[in-house]
Amino acid sequence: MDTQQFREFGKAAVDYIADYFETIRDRPVLPSVEPGYLGDLLPKEPPQTGESWQDVLQDVDRIIMPGLTHWHSPKFHAFYPTANSFPAVVGEMLSAGFGCVGLSWIASPAYTELEVVMMNWLGKLLDLPEEFLNSSEGPGGGIIQGSASEVTFIGLLAAKEKKVKDLMEQNPDLKESDIKGKLVAYTSDQSNSSVEKAGLLGSMPMRLIPSNDEGQLSSGAFIEAIRKDKEAGLIPCYLVACLGTTPTCAFDDLTELGPICNRENIWLHVDAAYAGAAFACPEYRYLMKGVEYADSFNFNPHKWMLVNFDCSAMWVKNAKYLVEAFNVQRIYLKDQHKDLAPEYRHWQISLGRRFRALKLWFVLKIYGVEGIQKYIRDQIGLAKKFEELVNNDNRFEVCTSSMGLVTFRLKGEDSLTKSLLEKIDQRKNIFMVPGHFKNKFVLRFVICSRLSTEEDVKYSWEEIRDQADEVVPTERRKIVEEISGKRSIATIELYESAIEKIKLEKSK
Ligand SMILES: Cc1ncc(COP(=O)(O)O)c(C=O)c1O
Repeated sequence: MDTQQFREFGKAAVDYIADYFETIRDRPVLPSVEPGYLGDLLPKEPPQTGESWQDVLQDVDRIIMPGLTHWHSPKFHAFYPTANSFPAVVGEMLSAGFGCVGLSWIASPAYTELEVVMMNWLGKLLDLPEEFLNSSEGPGGGIIQGSASEVTFIGLLAAKEKKVKDLMEQNPDLKESDIKGKLVAYTSDQSNSSVEKAGLLGSMPMRLIPSNDEGQLSSGAFIEAIRKDKEAGLIPCYLVACLGTTPTCAFDDLTELGPICNRENIWLHVDAAYAGAAFACPEYRYLMKGVEYADSFNFNPHKWMLVNFDCSAMWVKNAKYLVEAFNVQRIYLKDQHKDLAPEYRHWQISLGRRFRALKLWFVLKIYGVEGIQKYIRDQIGLAKKFEELVNNDNRFEVCTSSMGLVTFRLKGEDSLTKSLLEKIDQRKNIFMVPGHFKNKFVLRFVICSRLSTEEDVKYSWEEIRDQADEVVPTERRKIVEEISGKRSIATIELYESAIEKIKLEKSK
C-alpha cells in the first residue's frame, strides 16, 4: 500500500467511524450471531495475493459489524463504561502512525516527557496530594499502565518488595523466602475480580473480607482480619481499598483504613478504576478523603474519562519500590538520564511502551477541565433521572445509587427480577447485567455512552417498565389495560385499585 492509497483508506476509515457513531443509536445494542459465526464467513486460508482496501472495508461491514456489541450505544447499560471520544481516537491513530516503542527515554523522548506532564495534569485535575506527582524533588510519580488489573498486581509486587526489605533490615537473620511465604493481602468481598487475581498471580493469599451493609470494608473487620493473621504467624502486607466498587460503586473510607495501614506498615493501594474520574469535580472529592495515607492510587481514564482503552493512570508515593522490584539491566538499556526523566520500563511489567499519553493529552486539551467536569456531571445527572423514574413506579425499589450506577429490582421474590432480565435480554433492545446487593438479585443500570440523553434514559426505562408489565400476572395486566387503555402507566397501585373496583362492581 503506497501513501496515496493510505490517504484514501485512512479517510474512508474515518468516515466509516463517523457514520458508525451517527447511526449507533438505531442499531440493536446486542448482536444476534451465534458462537463460531465468523469462522464460516472467512476462507480457511489467508489470501494468496493481496486484496484491495475497499474489499477490506466491505468485509468489516459484512463480517465484523454484525458481531459487535455496541458499547457506545445509549442503550448499553452493562458493566461500567469504556471511554470513547473522537480526540482520543485520533490520538490512537497518530500513535500507531508514529509507531515508536518507548522502552527508554532515548527510544523516544517525547513518549516519556509527555507522559510525565500528562500524569501531573491528571493528578492536579483530581487534586491528588503533591507527593504523588512527578517531580525532580520527590520520589513519587505517575505512569500510564494498560489496565487497573495490571496496576493492582504491580502494587502488590511493590508492596512485597518493600515488606521484605523492611523486615530484613530490621532482622538480617531472616530469609527472603521465609518472609515471602507468610505475606497476606486484604480487600473487601466487593472488590473487582482483578484484585483476587492479583493475589493469585503474586502468590499472596488475598483475604476477601465481608463488607458492611453499605458495601464498604469496615475498619473493624479489617483490624480483626489482621489480628487473626498475625496470631497465625502471618505478615499483613497489602490492602486494596476501593473507591467505587464494581457491584454498587460503594466507597471505602480511607480516613479509617489509611491510619491502620500506616500503623501496621501495610501498603495501601486505592482502586478507583471507574469512579476516580468523578474527583475531577470538587463536589465529589470528599469521597477520597484520606487518600494521603495511600502508597499507590489508580483510576482508569479509559473507563469514564473519554480516553479510549487502554489508559490506566497509576501514581505512587515512592517509585523506588517499583524500580527496585522491576529493574533489570542490560548494556543496550542504559539509564542515561537518571534523576532527570523516569525510565518507565522499571515501573511496569513489559519492556515496550505505547504512546498512550498522546490520546490523554488530546482529550485534556480539547475538552479542558470544564468540559470533563460537565461530562461527568451530566452523566451523573442522567443516572439520577433514571433513579427518579424507577422510584416513581412502586413495583420497583432502588437499592443503591452512586455516581452513574443505579441498582434496582422488582419488589418481592428474586425470581421476578430474574424473569424481567430474561425478557429484556431476549428482546436485545437494551443491555444490562445483574448483581447482588444484600443477598438480593438486582439489576445494574449504568450510564455508559457519552451520547446518552434524557430521551435515551426514558427509552431504556420504558423498555424495562414494559417488560415488567409482562412479568406481573397476566390477568392483572389485562384488567389495567381495560381500565387505563395505556399499558405504559400500569403500576401495582393501579392493579390493586382496578381489582378493588371490579370487586366492588361484582358485589353490587
Ligand atoms: C473497581 C474496578 N477495579 C478494577 C477493574 C478492572 O479494570 P481493568 O479492566 O482496567 O483491569 C474494574 C473493572 O470494571 C473495576 O470496576
